[in-house]
Amino acid sequence: MTILVTGCAGFIGSYVTRALLSRGETVIGVDNLNDYYSPALKRARLQQFENDKAFQFHEIDIADHELLREQTKPAKITSIIHLAAQAGVRYSLKDPFAYSRSNLQGHLAILELARHLSVRHLVYASSSSVYGANEAVPFKETHACDNPVSLYGATKKSNELMSASYARLYALPQTGLRFFTVYGPMGRPDMAYWIFTEKMLRGEPIEVFNHGRMGRDFTYIDDIVDGVLAAHDRPPVGDGVPHRIYNLGNDRPEALLALIELLEKELGLKAQKTLVGMQRGDVERTWADITLARRDLGFQPKITLAEGISRFVAWRRGLAAPFV
Ligand SMILES: NC(=O)c1ccc[n+]([C@@H]2O[C@H](COP(=O)([O-])OP(=O)(O)OC[C@H]3O[C@@H](n4cnc5c(N)ncnc54)[C@H](O)[C@@H]3O)[C@@H](O)[C@H]2O)c1
Repeated sequence: MTILVTGCAGFIGSYVTRALLSRGETVIGVDNLNDYYSPALKRARLQQFENDKAFQFHEIDIADHELLREQTKPAKITSIIHLAAQAGVRYSLKDPFAYSRSNLQGHLAILELARHLSVRHLVYASSSSVYGANEAVPFKETHACDNPVSLYGATKKSNELMSASYARLYALPQTGLRFFTVYGPMGRPDMAYWIFTEKMLRGEPIEVFNHGRMGRDFTYIDDIVDGVLAAHDRPPVGDGVPHRIYNLGNDRPEALLALIELLEKELGLKAQKTLVGMQRGDVERTWADITLARRDLGFQPKITLAEGISRFVAWRRGLAAPFV
């Protein structure tokens, strides 16, 4: 198989690429290496594949649909794992147009590419953010998601609707995956566990939102990769519109303060906490019901937050200098 992975220099994309290559697939990777966070980190992730003949990289913006089509044409792509996006909830208040370009135009470009190539399956990243202000927990795929609290969440919900229309119009087989707070080594510098770690190492105070009354269904990267590959290998079959959506989470929400305690233990440092209010665009808690993913994909998260944070800190300790 030849699999197109978009966002291959990103956190999840690089792990998915590595897993695909190690099971013998050919991967065409696309990423625009934008500077939302350290491009050096993105390049370091790509370096892992530098000498792998089964990997080919194209530095392109997926929203540039003509260039995307032209450059990927010779590759005979059989399926697509679409992970490129402008991520981050808070940044969507700052630079909303980055989200319309990468997440809306970009998603449409991938849908068009997928239908022209008649791929056997398009798997794409959605997010727990689609649940927005929903209060009923755990979040289930059957719950209505009409209360977005951020533009980021709204673009991810839009992606699901755009995909549903292409599945119906063109019988394009697709699976949308709603990821829940993914973390791990080589992760994302804009996320709380990373920001806290760097600030604690520098002896600076950390801002704890909503006075610490926050809960997240933290999901370790290796568990997410297992879910992405399991979904990829199982295109929707049978009658009806070939489009499914799954939560990929840990089904074990943890308090933000518990995360801080784990970091304190692993780093051997006491955090100086500045308690602040709720941030616009944020939600108090997330919690994935993963019954569907368990049943259809055999998805079973294995790594506890304690183990995952310990692995993250061990990786961070091994860095000669932090990524900036
Ligand atoms: N990490 C999480 O906790 C999480 C949670 C929910 C959903 N998601 C979604 O999962 C996917 C992967 O997230 P991630 O955490 O790996 O984020 P990431 O930012 O590390 O990776 C995304 C990659 O896409 C690239 N990209 C962005 N816009 C692009 C464009 N227009 N053209 C080409 N490349 C572009 C970026 O350079 C980056 O390398 C995203 O769709 C994100 O919204 C992530």
